[in-house]
Amino acid sequence: MRKNIVAGNWKMNLDADEASQFALNFIKHKSSFPEDVDVIVCPPAVHLQDLADVFYDFNIGVGGQNCSVHSSGAYTGEISAGILKSVGASYVILGHSERREYFNESATQLAEKIKQALENKLIPIFCCGEPLSVRKENSHVAYVKQQLDEVFGELSQAQISQLIIAYEPIWAIGTGETASPQQAQEIHHEIRKVLNNYIGENADEISILYGGSVKPNNAKELFSEADIDGALVGGASLNPEDFLAIIKSF
Ligand code: PGA
Repeated sequence: MRKNIVAGNWKMNLDADEASQFALNFIKHKSSFPEDVDVIVCPPAVHLQDLADVFYDFNIGVGGQNCSVHSSGAYTGEISAGILKSVGASYVILGHSERREYFNESATQLAEKIKQALENKLIPIFCCGEPLSVRKENSHVAYVKQQLDEVFGELSQAQISQLIIAYEPIWAIGTGETASPQQAQEIHHEIRKVLNNYIGENADEISILYGGSVKPNNAKELFSEADIDGALVGGASLNPEDFLAIIKSF
């Protein structure tokens, strides 16, 4: 059975005081989390250790938002997958559209990052999704398939089988405009077909998350679709009550 997952992507938000305030408010509600949902928080990397310490007893996972293509060495400013693991991360978001766009991350680099993550026992949350211009041309399915093929082609079946996928249409990220449940389901289903080409029936075990303006008022409808196994949440993950309401939408 594939897992239901709600992951928060804090991006470059919340300083140390705000992060610990979040953690204290959030764990107060842990008893009301549904049992069958894995909850993950991906803060700025400097907060990982503190959050991992607080969240460990509550079975809340933490993850990085990126990792280096290298395992160690003279790469000023970079953080390796091994270092993320050593401070308590179990996950890492890779290929977020902001990283692809602002830091020019290529498919080859993303495949390397996935390999680094898996070698260090981090589960990658691998992101894909089309810009508005592509959606308007109605070529979003082909675009996303290509994003997946470019990276999956560099990976083994065993590696692909360990991924979490996040579909995040760029036009829905931070805009307040969510893909409709039907629009999201259409492409999640296509993503699962691509996975099936590479790993056969194991594709049914892969969690495919939707991301892009997921809020307490739209999560339930999204989660009711057959191939939407959870959410990657940006803005609403910064507020413990909103994040909790999304988790409880399962
Ligand atoms: P958003 O961000 O929920 O603020 O739209 C989602 C993301 O970028 O992961």
